[in-house]
Amino acid sequence: MAEAMVIDGKAFADALRARLAEHAAAFAHQAGRRPGLAVVLVGDDPASQVYVGAKGKACEAAGMASFEHRLPADTSEAALLSLVERLNHDPEVDGILVQMPLPAGLDEQAVIAAISPDKDVDGFHVINAGRLAVGQKGFVPCTPLGCMMLLKDRLGDLSGLDAVVIGRSNIVGKPMAQLLNDANATVTIAHSRTKNLADVVRRADIVVAAVGRPEMVRGDWIKPGATVIDVGINRLPPAEGKEKGRLVGDVAFAEASAVAGAITPVPGGVGPMTIAVLLRNTLVAAYAHAGMTAPAGL
Ligand code: GUN
Repeated sequence: MAEAMVIDGKAFADALRARLAEHAAAFAHQAGRRPGLAVVLVGDDPASQVYVGAKGKACEAAGMASFEHRLPADTSEAALLSLVERLNHDPEVDGILVQMPLPAGLDEQAVIAAISPDKDVDGFHVINAGRLAVGQKGFVPCTPLGCMMLLKDRLGDLSGLDAVVIGRSNIVGKPMAQLLNDANATVTIAHSRTKNLADVVRRADIVVAAVGRPEMVRGDWIKPGATVIDVGINRLPPAEGKEKGRLVGDVAFAEASAVAGAITPVPGGVGPMTIAVLLRNTLVAAYAHAGMTAPAGL
């Protein structure tokens, strides 16, 4: 069997960002201001610092304004909530992202609840989760929306396809299953208590793996020709003499790509889509705040 086509998420995300930059320039011309994203980082988690830096850079590169707020790890919940409140009322700010996880002692749900749903470009607020659940327009979490874009680009119509989502988190698994269901796939959500997981995955035309367990999904779990979307980003322990371990997904890539029809790599698959969709959601928010109609197909 031929090797699977490798889905180039980086190239797809770059093309999306280039289109967003054109729309952002048109928006700025019409509205007299750039679309703006506020990113809040509490504490000094190294991975979060990298993500937040990347988000700021991507904003600026797309012609959007980035407002970074870096707060010390001992910030009180009251101080954080008051910053969110200020950003809710700031007319330059279209989107608000509070980087998760928050340091111990800060209530993530309380902070998410404080973000105005029309600036919740992460799609984490219960109002936006509820809108997705009942099929109303709202902000959808960036990673599953990015996965959907890759799937539709690869497969076109998903009607009637069997999809298995491994993982049931609020950020990826649950919204992913809803999006696939909305696209008329037949969806199974699998998780740590699922019996005979390999057999469940073997039925799937579409596999979305979002469990955070390195290379858990093996090649012989994959139906020949299936499309495999790997959301996992796991760092293996360093090899002898190396400082850092390799980055791998939740899928054993070499094995799976010998069987699948198409597969996303790690890195360079789903990861780059997340920030591109964050910019997309911010632009959608900006059009709404300015009372302007967003361009079709955003
Ligand atoms: N931490 C890891 N991914 C994300 C994300 O997409 N949004 C936020 N707010 N925090 C994260």
